Amino acid sequence: MTEAKKLFVKTYGCQMNVYDSERMAEALGAQGYEQVDTAEAADMILLNTCHIREKAAEKLYSDLGRLRPLREARPDLKIGVAGCVAQAEGEEIMRRMPIVDLVVGPQTYHRLPKMMEAVARGEKALDTDFPEEDKFAHLPKDRRAKRGPTAFLTVQEGCDKFCSFCVVPYTRGAEVSRPVERLLREARDLVERGVREITLLGQNVNAYHGPGPEGGEWGLARLVRALAGIEGLDRIRYTTSHPNDMEDDLIAAHGDCGKLMPYLHLPVQSGSDRILKAMNRKHTAEAYVRLIERIRAARPDLVLSGDFIVGFPGETEADFEATLALVREVGYGSAFTFKYSARPGTPAAERAPVDPAEADDRLQRLQALIAEQQRATQAGMVGRTVQVLFEKAGREPGQIAGKSEYLHAVHVDGPEALIGQVAAVEVVESRPNSLAGRLV
Ligand code: 5AD
Ligand code: SF4
Repeated sequence: MTEAKKLFVKTYGCQMNVYDSERMAEALGAQGYEQVDTAEAADMILLNTCHIREKAAEKLYSDLGRLRPLREARPDLKIGVAGCVAQAEGEEIMRRMPIVDLVVGPQTYHRLPKMMEAVARGEKALDTDFPEEDKFAHLPKDRRAKRGPTAFLTVQEGCDKFCSFCVVPYTRGAEVSRPVERLLREARDLVERGVREITLLGQNVNAYHGPGPEGGEWGLARLVRALAGIEGLDRIRYTTSHPNDMEDDLIAAHGDCGKLMPYLHLPVQSGSDRILKAMNRKHTAEAYVRLIERIRAARPDLVLSGDFIVGFPGETEADFEATLALVREVGYGSAFTFKYSARPGTPAAERAPVDPAEADDRLQRLQALIAEQQRATQAGMVGRTVQVLFEKAGREPGQIAGKSEYLHAVHVDGPEALIGQVAAVEVVESRPNSLAGRLV
């Protein structure tokens, strides 16, 4: 038997990329590739890239620069670039970086096996189309592979919202929802392979409107309820959402669907109506706050997370203070904060930027407030009993670690036999990025 070829995949950016990387690795697994942990050990390196902010895109070029000596020492080594930078600047990558053999955009992963054949013949391959088919439906997979207790499942891709700062509608294209039956099948398959928790993914996951089994379209709430019927699946989460797509039935599901976890990532980006308008978010700060109240009425213990951009063009100190006020009013368990980054081709990139020192200062102030809320949320868990899905051995010997229903990392002293199961844990201490607990 010939030795398996070795594949190294590096994933940048969001969870959708993590899912895509898993699926690409599975597809290449079907072609005889085995995954390795380092670039040095690989015959094929695949960089699955992110274009959301300038820094994320720059990382690709610096990583490619670092791979150059490796590639020059081993001309048989193949290098591929996938993901959103591939989509946005595929030709440029090929031109600037002659060590790259293959460029594949996020919508054409199902063509990867064919492209790899061309690369094996010593050709270069580039595909950044937006075809109509479901790319995942055509990807071969290794059905027998065992899985850890948690998995991602992409249900929807692309975005039609066109927030004025965002490249997603350009790199991932228009919103497409995968058919219900295919998702249920994939979910059952994951559960058979050991998965207990599925996080449904989409750039705009709550805009999901996939074709149902008997015609008609299903929304996210109906999909969640159908998934909840799968025996052996204990937990469902979804990310990431837009406030304008939080429909009544989804809010209701947070109250009455026990498998839907009480954690929600619902970005608002800014607390200033002026800036929200300039961002083309199509709702006010007040509407967001009222929405949160309705979701919390359905699920009072909900832990909220969000995304914020500071230093958006035209943001004044008063606009920024409105963001701080919104954060204080809502109260977040955690949140991601970003300094605005002008993305080529987006409307906001044409506007005059905020002074970078000012933007840095705002970022720090917002981060301090959110860190304080995060500490308070975690501290509020001490003394409570949470349900933990154990995922792996902990850092110390004899420890196991997992996530609570609120997505807090929790570790306890306990047997490894609990990995893959949900168990009740009394939280005894809040540490900087995790909770310590004891099995009850
Ligand atoms: N600059 C800064 N942050 C951005 N995001 C998206 N585009 C930009 C940009 N141009 C942030 C938003 C979004 C998250 C995924 O990334 O907060 O919700
Ligand atoms: Fe980007 Fe806005 Fe779409 Fe989110 S909703 S992916 S921020 S355009």
